[in-house]
Amino acid sequence: MPEAEFRLLVKEVANYVRFLAEAGVTFLEVGQEDRVLAGDTADASELQPPAPTQPPAQHTSKAVRRVPETGANPVPTDGDEQALRATPEKQRLLHSQPKSNDENLTRSATTCNQTLAREPQFRQDSLFGEAAAPLPAADVSLEAIRNDIGDCRRCKLAHHRTHIVFGEGSPQARLVFVGEGPGAEEDATGRPFVGRAGQLLDKIIAAMGLKREEVYICNVVKCRPPENRTPERDEVAACAGFLHRQLAVIRPRVIVALGASAAAALLEDPKLGGISKLRGRFYDYRGIPLMPTFHPAYLLRSPDKKREAWEDMKQVMAKLRESERAAP
Ligand code: URA
Repeated sequence: MPEAEFRLLVKEVANYVRFLAEAGVTFLEVGQEDRVLAGDTADASELQPPAPTQPPAQHTSKAVRRVPETGANPVPTDGDEQALRATPEKQRLLHSQPKSNDENLTRSATTCNQTLAREPQFRQDSLFGEAAAPLPAADVSLEAIRNDIGDCRRCKLAHHRTHIVFGEGSPQARLVFVGEGPGAEEDATGRPFVGRAGQLLDKIIAAMGLKREEVYICNVVKCRPPENRTPERDEVAACAGFLHRQLAVIRPRVIVALGASAAAALLEDPKLGGISKLRGRFYDYRGIPLMPTFHPAYLLRSPDKKREAWEDMKQVMAKLRESERAAP
């Protein structure tokens, strides 16, 4: 077996062992591991990732498209780019220079290998540890978008907030996580996903062999909804343009939508349905594969769902590797 293939296999096994630990498996009988990992025992069927059983989702919105499993690049969507069309000057800037993720990819791949090679990673107590680009080539910075938001009063969430939570991470991130809206800790600090759900998200990112600062993390709405309720339609409408612009600047290889409301906002279809139905497959967000998965706050309440979430993250990792191979 070629060394590179062997290293990949070792990485996969390490990830899978973490997954088993998170799923509550405390030991494997000697001699059983091979059969379990190969999935050829009755016991193994329990431990194997669930086979995708859901039928393909039926969607009417033209903005929502499944990413084809193989073959051609996804067809660009003609979604709302109103925010990007704000001024002729902005449009000129947005369409001027193509942007490269090369440096970041190299860095991420190196870090990924280094992280996975470090033994303490394997001892963590929890698992959680391409397309044609229809997004306009953008060179408007994230700072420029933050400046446009200013001391925002565009919707009623402004009355309750302490801080606007814009988002943080690498502007060249290959992977972006999008949540629903800030919670109490995020509102207090101005940083996304720093509360309990954020700590679980950190573990998910680490289990993927990445560092928090290598990815980008943001929300659909930038101000905390009272009592952490789901953002209302007018609030999403007032804020989502900034999210689309953030994604246009970052141009990630993959997006993870945390929860149904993040998926619905990104795919611009309020009738998308529940996350259990949506998760486990890629959708097309303006040419970028988007994976909906359970929100970490939900995983804290329903830990049995972590296993499915990890299956989703494995697909995300595979998609990242695929895109790296296609465009290193
Ligand atoms: N939940 C979210 O959706 N976003 C955060 O930033 C924190 C919790």
